Amino acid sequence: MRKKIVAGNWKMNFGLDETQDLISGLKKINKTSDAEVVIAPPFTNLFSAFEALKNTNISLAAQNMHESEKGAFTGEISAGMLKSIGVNTVILGHSERRAIFGEDENLLTEKVNMALKNDMRIIYCFGEELKDRNYGEHHEVVGKQIANTLYHLDAEAWKHIVLAYEPVWAIGTGETATPDQAQDMHSFVRKEVKHEYGAEVADNLSILYGGSVKPANANEIFSKEDVDGGLIGGASLKAEDFMAIVNAF
Ligand code: PGA
Repeated sequence: MRKKIVAGNWKMNFGLDETQDLISGLKKINKTSDAEVVIAPPFTNLFSAFEALKNTNISLAAQNMHESEKGAFTGEISAGMLKSIGVNTVILGHSERRAIFGEDENLLTEKVNMALKNDMRIIYCFGEELKDRNYGEHHEVVGKQIANTLYHLDAEAWKHIVLAYEPVWAIGTGETATPDQAQDMHSFVRKEVKHEYGAEVADNLSILYGGSVKPANANEIFSKEDVDGGLIGGASLKAEDFMAIVNAF
């Protein structure tokens, strides 16, 4: 059975005090679903978050990492540094990293390889822009995004991959893909992966949906067969909203 996961991507929000407050809030709310809960605070708060989350069933992810082991890369954070403070999961390929910071498929391939070399789990984001959907090219665009960065991996490596479909037009816009649009893309992706790697890899692969998920729409999206969870931005910044989404499973 594949894992259900709800992950909160805090993006560039919150200092130390707010991080502690939000984590205290999360800990106070009962988790009634069996989904794994992951939060991704900014780098500066990861260690304090790690300490605050001890003895809870909430785990941590980093929002990014550098593709090199170490060295003269001023301002960057390596996989080894993340591992050294107990962070075993990293979000890669987020559309903001692609669009604002120019992360292309070559770079993402290097990041994927470095994360796996360090035994990290990857939440790998992809998704089409509105123009791709309007031209009817969304499947093709998404298929390429996955193939070009992940199909060099062997089947064993896919045990460390979680996919997150995030249509760019739905991120932070308040506009959500309909549950049917999400299901359509998730099932397309699962079929592609099955074609490449076989049923076992495809069936065990968690595919999350991201893009304006809120307590009000989570239940309907999560009820779709191929939607195994969510990557939540804005709504992960409030404990009640985030846990309501977790408990929507
Ligand atoms: P959003 O962000 O939930 O605020 O749309 C999702 C994301 O960027 O992962």
